[in-house]
Amino acid sequence: MRVIAIDGPSGSGKTTVSRAVAARLDAGHLDTGAMYRSVALSVLKRGVDPEDQHTVARVALEVTIDVGEEKVVVDGEDATAHIRGDDVTRAVSAVASNPAVREEMVRRQREWAAARDVGVVEGRDIGTVVFPDAELKVYLVAGDAVRARRRSTETGGVEGTVAADMARRDELDSTRAASPLKAADDAVVLDTSDLTVDQVVEEVLRNLNP
Ligand code: DC
Repeated sequence: MRVIAIDGPSGSGKTTVSRAVAARLDAGHLDTGAMYRSVALSVLKRGVDPEDQHTVARVALEVTIDVGEEKVVVDGEDATAHIRGDDVTRAVSAVASNPAVREEMVRRQREWAAARDVGVVEGRDIGTVVFPDAELKVYLVAGDAVRARRRSTETGGVEGTVAADMARRDELDSTRAASPLKAADDAVVLDTSDLTVDQVVEEVLRNLNP
């Protein structure tokens, strides 16, 4: 099992870069943000309050999640579009800050990697908590305006609203007690603001084989 960990805030380019790196290496790719979004969706569908830590923890144990390249299936239903919806985006920070949810997701992420030769895993805590022994840890950053532009292009949202929502989630992700968003000490930090996807991918691959 070889793991390449790609962490960073929203809009830093994680998903695009991780997919491209995985394709170049003929490796698997796991979007762990989609897993936390899937739990949040299941929580909402069951009518559970995202702040109800005890019940949310139970949902995390029960929910079935299949994060594929083309689609995400949650509790047997195609949830690809729904996990990116505003309702899920609003609820996900509370769900992701629940330590019991994180414990279960980390367990599933390690299980995913153990079943593969090479995996590119993207998230917030992959290099710091999930795979501290990853072969390569990359921490992507980008300027606030660039990140907001990327996200609003992706979601069709208004840039100002997207920027405010992103700032709120980054703040919650960085200041939470359980596995806050931060670069691992041994991570390669890449600012993607002025780079093309290809340039970032080449830089990641260069660090893999120095
Ligand atoms: O990358 P994203 O926006 O789809 O992530 C959704 C949420 O999940 C975000 O608020 C941060 C959280 N998350 C996390 O806490 N840990 C991860 N490994 C991945 C995502």
